[in-house]
Amino acid sequence: MIRRKLVAGNWKMNGNRAALSELVAIAAAARPDVDVAIAVPATLIIPAVASVPRLAIGGEDVHPADHGAHTGCISAAMLKDAGATFSVIGHSERRSDCGETDAEVRAKAEALHRHGLAAILCIGETLADRQSGRAVEMVVRQLIGSLPSQAAPDWLSIAYEPVWAIGTGHTPTATEVVEMHGAIRATLRDLIGGDAAVVRLLYGGSVTADNAAQLLHAGDVDGALVGGASLTAATFVPIMNAAQPANAGAGRFSRAQQNNAVDHVIAAQA
Ligand code: PGA
Repeated sequence: MIRRKLVAGNWKMNGNRAALSELVAIAAAARPDVDVAIAVPATLIIPAVASVPRLAIGGEDVHPADHGAHTGCISAAMLKDAGATFSVIGHSERRSDCGETDAEVRAKAEALHRHGLAAILCIGETLADRQSGRAVEMVVRQLIGSLPSQAAPDWLSIAYEPVWAIGTGHTPTATEVVEMHGAIRATLRDLIGGDAAVVRLLYGGSVTADNAAQLLHAGDVDGALVGGASLTAATFVPIMNAAQPANAGAGRFSRAQQNNAVDHVIAAQA
């Protein structure tokens, strides 16, 4: 099954209007055979969409409710109104900073789907989980707990982000990523059947220009979720380039195959 690669940036609590010039440079370097998406702080969604209408711009979080008395929160309807086409949900920083549970993450995904937005759902084990040999068990449990009803490949991607790899400069080996993605794919197969073969599985955690080619072309890796290295075009564009099919060591997909890839919703609105 052919899945187009998705390279997504996550600006977290970084960036201001001056930084939009980085998005312009990133958009200029985008190529048709790799999907590129950037999640930006809420304050930047509207100006980002205006600056780079051809790039998929997303939020970093969403509230499960459509509106109401939730001071400081942003609904899926608001994200959509601002021009966002997706949101990251369940990031480990939200799970730890804000105590988000799997059930809340699932409700957030369902809110996005109600409003026609795509979701990048993050799951990942802690260092203690990995050291105790329970990494796969914990990630599978998170996946089962947070997978939304109506989960389908045209709007949902899963980002495997080991907590210990985020912002640390440490990454799992390609073999460890392949093993985890295999467990995620098998679990998805149990939960949603044949559609599981088309869901994109991203790897995230200290992805840089130096390790991108190896991680992005490991088996069953369909893209990357990139934090620190997404903040500038100089560090992000090489990761986008590494995702190009031509950069797969053994030429895993031909261009013709890529052109036949499944369409996913994570695309700019324009
Ligand atoms: P990092 O962050 O690339 O800075 O490690 C990844 C993420 O948290 O999505």
